[in-house]
Amino acid sequence: MIPDVVTTIAELRARVLGARHSGASIGLVPTMGALHEGHASLATRARADNGCVVASIFVNPLQFDRQDDLDAYPRTLDADVAALGNLGVELVFAPSPSEMYPVPPELGIDVGRLGDHLCGRHRPGHFRGVATVVMKLFQIVQPDRAYFGEKDAQQLAIIRRLVADFNLPVEVVGMPTLREADGLALSSRNRRLRPEERHLAVALSRALTEGRLAIEAGATDPATVRLAAAQAIPTAPRVRLEYFESVDPETMQPVDRISGTVTLAGALWVGDVRLIDNVRATPPLR
Ligand code: PAJ
Repeated sequence: MIPDVVTTIAELRARVLGARHSGASIGLVPTMGALHEGHASLATRARADNGCVVASIFVNPLQFDRQDDLDAYPRTLDADVAALGNLGVELVFAPSPSEMYPVPPELGIDVGRLGDHLCGRHRPGHFRGVATVVMKLFQIVQPDRAYFGEKDAQQLAIIRRLVADFNLPVEVVGMPTLREADGLALSSRNRRLRPEERHLAVALSRALTEGRLAIEAGATDPATVRLAAAQAIPTAPRVRLEYFESVDPETMQPVDRISGTVTLAGALWVGDVRLIDNVRATPPLR
């Protein structure tokens, strides 16, 4: 099937209303396009759970802290629409920036302490932009359920709090991270890696594995865990570990001591590409 591509808020609202009147529940899969199997897993789950699935494709300028990153973000709308059709998605919402932001927005969602660390610390304004566009998408589509990947753990934690703090009638469904055979987390940004740099990118998931193993072996000091993880990062001119932290899975605050399950999260620069990934790690019972 070929999905209907809707570009205006008014038409999207009318189409969703029609589906709702026919008794369908509405599932929303928000994306920025350049779809891969990770996005497909969200759409497949949404298809199974709901009578009507809306996938949004919008490269949200508000969440980019660097103009060059926004310009370089891959855009593959025709292929994305075809892939969504194969997954049974009936509606694709692909608005222009001026449809979403006819005037520069004055108000935005303050993400509080959830944005103080990890990507929030290194990308000023990023999560305010994410939370604001997700709030807008929730208001436009009014879905029963919305699907997000654990790959972006800080984003998922913020959206869960957005829904809780503002009593939004949406069930947030978190989905596991899909990976390449060597462990590299699937990401739209992977396609910007140079062929000769691809093999370096796997270092991030290796570092997370080393960190998890250290915790499972009894390490309780985050500095020790970071050291164990850093061993997996090769010394190469264009490779740089931006952050690597042990944080509380809900509050995204760094822990002083690892005494329960933590999220290990890291960001790695490989050439001009910034990759993020995370895993959960649980210390042994004592
Ligand atoms: P985007 O990076 O396109 O990701 C869309 C969704 O796919 C997110 O929920 C993300 O966590 C999930 N995803 C990405 N890689 C994944 C993987 N390897 N396995 C499983 N899920 C994966 O995240 C965004 O867009 C934007 O910030 C958005 C929420 C759309 C707001 O603009």
